[in-house]
Amino acid sequence: MKTAIYPGSFDPLTNGHIDIIKRGIKLFDKIIVAILVNPAKQSLFSVDERIDILTECLKDIQGVEIDSFGGLLVDYAQQKNAHAILRGMRAVSDFEYEFQMALMNRRLNREIQTVFLMTGLRWIYTSSSIIKEAAYFGGDISGMVPPLVEKRIAEKFGNPSGNRKSNQPEGDF
Ligand code: COA
Repeated sequence: MKTAIYPGSFDPLTNGHIDIIKRGIKLFDKIIVAILVNPAKQSLFSVDERIDILTECLKDIQGVEIDSFGGLLVDYAQQKNAHAILRGMRAVSDFEYEFQMALMNRRLNREIQTVFLMTGLRWIYTSSSIIKEAAYFGGDISGMVPPLVEKRIAEKFGNPSGNRKSNQPEGDF
């Protein structure tokens, strides 16, 4: 059984993350999408809210499990019998941070390999923060996040009727 951990903040889940998970599950039997419990990082959604969102949005993808973790990622991976960490690589700007993290994780546990998938071109310049910022100021984020996330963000920002719609074709930039 080949298991990978796909760790992150997922505050919130975006279509870019889903793209990595859908492609990753073709390489692994099981992917554990693991939310880092990080009290130092201010988040829009609580860990429980993020677990709910991930569970609902990923329920149709066979082989995906949702969890949260604290402490060292390699320790969590070992505890879950996972031999790989899955990460999406976006623009070149991600490279140094990801490289540093992968090398540190390998130093901490040589049995666990980091596997990078190139993020889909459409999602190269997106991130949870930039999507939240656009939504906060009333921008249209449809096509960048699942509809449930769009709804939950609108509720958080007190805009339950939805945001101003963009004139771009769905998911286009
Ligand atoms: N599409 C769109 N956006 C993406 C994306 C994709 N495919 N992949 C990542 N992103 C965005 C995220 O939305 C996030 O955006 P934000 O910063 O605006 O919230 C950003 O990229 C960072 O990604 P994320 O995957 O959430 O990384 P992170 O830096 O918050 O967390 C961990 C990285 C959890 C893997 C790392 O902190 C960790 O392992 N911590 C545990 C402690 C540990 O073991 N430390 C030693 C390791 S060196």
